[in-house]
Amino acid sequence: MPEHISFKEVVAKKQRGQKITMLTAYDHPMAMLLDRAGVDLILVGDSLANVVLGLDSTVQVGMDVMLHHVKAVTRGAKRAPVIADMPFEAYQPVGADAVSNARLFVEAGCAAVKVEWFTGCVEVVKAIRGVGIDVVGHVGLTPQTAETLGVRGRSQEEAHAILEQAEALEAAGCMMIVIECVPEKLTREITATLRVPVIGIGAGKYCDGQVLVTHDILTLNERKVPKFVKRYANVGGVIMEAVRAYRADVERGDFPGKEHTFH
Ligand code: KIV
Repeated sequence: MPEHISFKEVVAKKQRGQKITMLTAYDHPMAMLLDRAGVDLILVGDSLANVVLGLDSTVQVGMDVMLHHVKAVTRGAKRAPVIADMPFEAYQPVGADAVSNARLFVEAGCAAVKVEWFTGCVEVVKAIRGVGIDVVGHVGLTPQTAETLGVRGRSQEEAHAILEQAEALEAAGCMMIVIECVPEKLTREITATLRVPVIGIGAGKYCDGQVLVTHDILTLNERKVPKFVKRYANVGGVIMEAVRAYRADVERGDFPGKEHTFH
């Protein structure tokens, strides 16, 4: 496994026709595992809110919480570049200093920051790119501003708007676009149109790469997952079994054994 890959090297995979793999991590042990398993990119998503903090909305995590988790992840990821999700408060409300907040993520070891589409997004991307920080755009379903979940871009009008947003983000300097929860026909068109890689989540196979929430593919929590998630393991089940075995051992007096005891 090579020492460290740059974000630029990952982006260049599109030109070579190689698929890009990205998964989320929110802590040090998971970052180490993903890194060793060879994923191209690790995303500290603001899905942190729902996935590990038990909150209802991604808008409920701010800079302090994101930075706390980002630092744990960058300490664990030695090879794969880490991307930080800019939380809502970092760039959307009037007066938010997007550039200073993006800098804090870079100082914490991130290779790039991700911003979700909203009106005003292009200006934010240009400002962050203006100080030399790499940016990933996010279109389609954008949970920070979405009133409802579900598929976007089914109507011609909405599909056209999403294509235009992706093009505008590329023109503003985004090095990569994440597209969430759209029909595969639309992703195919956007992937063919853009020069930068398009990474899908619930967007079908015609993308330059895929991203999913790691806790979803490992069944690490009990939340209901969307149709586009493939379960690769039942780690939650393994944990339950192990914890029940520990509890039974302690209750029976079988743990600790001689081998776990100082004499
Ligand atoms: O917050 C997140 O985890 C994300 C991905 C699912 C793309 O934005």
